[in-house]
Amino acid sequence: MSIVSLESMVKKAYDNGYAVGQFNINNLEWTKAILLTAQELNSPVILGVSEGAGKYMTGYKTVVAMVNAMIDGLGITVPVSLHLDHGTYEGAYKAIEAGFSSVMFDGSSYPIAENLAKTKELVAKTKSLGLSFEAEVGAIGGEEDGVLGYGELADPDQCKQIADLGVTILAAGIGNIHGVYPANWKGLNFDVLTKIRAKVTHTPLVLHGGTGIPEDMIKKAISLGVAKINVNTECQLVFAAATRKYIEAGKDLEGKGFDPRKLLAPGTEAIKQAVKAKILLFGSANRA
Ligand code: 13P
Repeated sequence: MSIVSLESMVKKAYDNGYAVGQFNINNLEWTKAILLTAQELNSPVILGVSEGAGKYMTGYKTVVAMVNAMIDGLGITVPVSLHLDHGTYEGAYKAIEAGFSSVMFDGSSYPIAENLAKTKELVAKTKSLGLSFEAEVGAIGGEEDGVLGYGELADPDQCKQIADLGVTILAAGIGNIHGVYPANWKGLNFDVLTKIRAKVTHTPLVLHGGTGIPEDMIKKAISLGVAKINVNTECQLVFAAATRKYIEAGKDLEGKGFDPRKLLAPGTEAIKQAVKAKILLFGSANRA
């Protein structure tokens, strides 16, 4: 097995009323934890890589090689897609060249005409290579790897224009925010989602900012056409908290507790639990 397009996994999810999780990776431990959890639950899974995380891992080629080798080494049989998250125009081409099985081009900060033109070109390129492609309309709020957005809401007509270009999946801002939601957050805007859904009738939608959205809102979003949900911050938070606990308990000072394989074990286990809870909530267990 090696990495695959996410097209058939999200289409199946869209047709059957569940969503596939995209979990962002930063390193080997993250990747291993997510792959093993997806395998345990017999769930398809999408590994998201931001441009910043790609650089951190020394480039897209390293990431492709690591993920394919890990699928082989761990005996992973569930479908795994390796997806560029919030790619720039240049970044999308680099990820394609390096062998990613899926890319997102985030043209939401361009005027719509330019977003349409660049998206159209990348739809043709990815289709010719059998890769899946995600486009975005309306910036998602919050900050991720230096990319800022302010909880914008996508225009349903623009969503239709972008979807009609033949994108595999569409990310549309519906009041969702990357990172931890502020106390005064108003929740997802289902009115906008319903209007988008009325215009975009065949393209599965993506919900970014999956950390901290109440369960009932997640379920409602899925019922309105969301078939891919992105989670990043939650894994970072649980990893940091578990590592802090280990160190504050002085475990790194006991025996060989400083060995990174021991030091990072509680954080890795915490990621597994967080990913497991999300896969069960999104309904993708036993759908591989
Ligand atoms: P969170 O970091 O809020 O979970 O969002 C992840 C995301 O949308 C990645 O694109």
